[in-house]
Amino acid sequence: MFPAPPKSSSGGLPALSADESAHEQHVLAHLRRTIAEADGWISFADYMNLVLYAPGLGYYAAGSRKFGASGDFVTAPELTPLFGCTLAGQLAQVIALVSDAEIIELGPGSGRLCADVLTELAERDSLPARYRLLEVSPELRERQREHLAASVPAHLSRVEWIDRLPERWRGAVLANEVLDALPAHLVARRGDEWLERGVAFDGAGALAFVDRGLASRGLRERAQARFPATGDYVSELNPVAEALVMSLAQRCEQGLVVLVDYGFPAAEYYHPQRDQGTLMVHYRHRALADPFFHPGLSDLTAHVDFSAMAQAGAAGGMSVAGFATQAQFLVNCGVLDQLARCGTPDSDEYLRAAGAVHTLTSPAEMGELFKVLALTREVDAPLVGFRDGDRLHRL
Ligand SMILES: C[S@@+](CC[C@H](N)C(=O)[O-])C[C@H]1O[C@@H](n2cnc3c(N)ncnc32)[C@H](O)[C@@H]1O
Repeated sequence: MFPAPPKSSSGGLPALSADESAHEQHVLAHLRRTIAEADGWISFADYMNLVLYAPGLGYYAAGSRKFGASGDFVTAPELTPLFGCTLAGQLAQVIALVSDAEIIELGPGSGRLCADVLTELAERDSLPARYRLLEVSPELRERQREHLAASVPAHLSRVEWIDRLPERWRGAVLANEVLDALPAHLVARRGDEWLERGVAFDGAGALAFVDRGLASRGLRERAQARFPATGDYVSELNPVAEALVMSLAQRCEQGLVVLVDYGFPAAEYYHPQRDQGTLMVHYRHRALADPFFHPGLSDLTAHVDFSAMAQAGAAGGMSVAGFATQAQFLVNCGVLDQLARCGTPDSDEYLRAAGAVHTLTSPAEMGELFKVLALTREVDAPLVGFRDGDRLHRL
C-alpha cells in the first residue's frame, strides 16, 4: 500500500457522510454485541477479523471504495500495469517448466493484477491453463468480473472464482498485499508477564486496548522465540498467515508461490526498537496509528514477518527459493525493459510509467519496505526474479 508515511494525525480529514456514519454505527453495534457475548473482551485478531471481514460490515465485505485514487490506498497493480507485466516474467518461467500449470491469485483486489498478468502472458504465448481467483468478498468478485470483462475479454474464459484453496494445485500462486490483511494477534511482555492485548469498550463507551494473561501456548512459544530477550515489548504474531502459507505449500504438487508484501525478516521485525509493533490504518491515503479509527471504514494492516512465512512454507514441504526487495525482484524480472517499451522518453506515457516505476523501486518509497518471497516445489531452475540481490540469508 502506498503512501505509508510515518504515523500521521487524522486532522484535516472531511467529516463522514451520513451513510458512512450510519455504517460505522452498525459496525460499533456489532462489536458491542460480540464483545458483550465474549464477557467483555475479544482478541485483537478477532477485532481485526470483524472490522475487515464481517459480512456486510467489514471493510473488505461492505461497499467502500478501497483501492485507487478515490479509495484509501494504492497498491502496486493499481499504480501501473508494469507491475503485473513484470511479475508475469517470473510466472512465465515456471509455466514453461510445469505441465498443465494454472495460476491461483489470492485476494485479487480490483482484478487489475490478473488482467495485466494475463495480457503479458498472452504476449509471451505463455498463458496458463486456468487463472483462478480466491476472493472472500462478494462485492470485490463483482468488481473483478467487471474489470476483466472490460480489459481482457478474450481471456475471461480462463478465469474462475473459487471460495477455498483447491486440494492440489500445480503452477503458481500469487498474493500481493494479502498477508498483511490477515488478522494478527497482539502479544505483550511486561516484566516477566506474558499478555495478550485485546479489545474492549472502556467506561466512556470507546474501544480500548485491554491486556489479559496470555492463554495460548502457541502464541507464547512464538513470542518467546521471536521477541527480544529483555524489555517491555508488544508486537504482532500471525498464526493465520502462517497456516495459510503452510496450507498452500502442502497442497502444491509442483510450482511456485510468490508472496509480495511489506514486512521484514524476524530479526528486523522483532527488533528491540520496534517495541510497539507495526499496526497501521489506511484511510483516504493517510497512514494512521489508531486501530480504532472509523472501524469498518478504514483498512487495518500489520507488516509481514517473512521468516515466519518462509518457515511455514518449508514446514508444508516447499523450498524457500528466493527473498528479495521488491525493487531488486522487479529489476531482475526486467521492469526497465518493460519501461523502455512505454514510448519515447519525452512522451507523457513514458513519463507517467517512469514515475510509477520510481515509486515501485525507490528505497524511499515501495522498493525496500516491500519484499518478495518465493517458495518452490520441484522447480530446479534458479528463478529469474532472484538472479541478483537475493537476501535468503537474512530470513
Ligand atoms: C490489501 S487488499 C490487496 C488487493 C490486491 N491484491 C492488490 O494488490 O491490489 C487485500 C485482499 O486480500 C483479500 N483477502 C483477505 N483474506 C483473504 C484470504 N484468507 N484468502 C484470500 N484473500 C484474502 C481481501 O479480500 C482483499 O482483496
